[in-house]
Amino acid sequence: MNPKTELPIGIFDSGIGGLTVVRQIHRALPREDLVYLGDTARVPYGTKSPGTVVRFACEDTQFLIQQNVKAVVVACNTVSAWALPTLERKFGVPIFGVIIPGAQAALKRTKNRRIGIIGTAATVRSQAYSRTILARDDAARVFARACPLLVPLVEEGWTNQKVTLAVLRCYLSPLLRRGIDTLVLGCTHYPLLKRAIRAVTGNEVALVDSAESCAQFLNERLQSTKLLNQGRRRPGVIQPFVTDEVERFDELARRFLGVPTEPAWKVDVPGICAPP
Ligand code: DGL
Repeated sequence: MNPKTELPIGIFDSGIGGLTVVRQIHRALPREDLVYLGDTARVPYGTKSPGTVVRFACEDTQFLIQQNVKAVVVACNTVSAWALPTLERKFGVPIFGVIIPGAQAALKRTKNRRIGIIGTAATVRSQAYSRTILARDDAARVFARACPLLVPLVEEGWTNQKVTLAVLRCYLSPLLRRGIDTLVLGCTHYPLLKRAIRAVTGNEVALVDSAESCAQFLNERLQSTKLLNQGRRRPGVIQPFVTDEVERFDELARRFLGVPTEPAWKVDVPGICAPP
């Protein structure tokens, strides 16, 4: 047996949004221990420059590696969009992002090959989803839209308010006019808006939850690389770390995660990586 199978999986995000990914991973792999880092002191990443996002991502990954994890999952779409190649080059553990699983899931779901992407300004600017989709199917058409107001609305708990529906209508109408039949929820926070998004798009548009696709992808990859912890009987433990005070984390974690965790710890991440 690979001695690494017993080690936890590390997951990080710019803040608490990545708990939507933790939720799906815990659901798909209930016996795996998970170590989560939410960089709550520096959130949001979605409005920052690529260089800053890459630097923060290196520091977050270094912290998780110090926790002796067997793999790192980049829950943050913004980081997955900008920093994955750098992280893969710099660190000697398997690194998983959310873009490839989300893009593959979208291609599986679409029938008319017209795919919408929503995400932070930085994710959309990177064109990472479009490039990944078009590399697999060059006849697909991709329409992307940055939706910067959605993260604060979700953090406020306004997932179904009138104002949220109005904002969603503004963001999604141009995509719907393009005839998309599939929409990728390309941000950690958007799974919490599924109901409201569905109310705007109707049932004809398939919603791809990048958190869900990422958990499935991780499950398959850990299995094929023999890193899956198959012997353990007890349920996996979720250990959260945050870089700002734990009180706000505790309050939001209940909503984003929905299952109990170990008490969160406040930590400093090491600023050891030079910008690329
Ligand atoms: N976690 C980010 C993402 O998925 C959203 C929040 C932020 O801007 O940092 O892109």
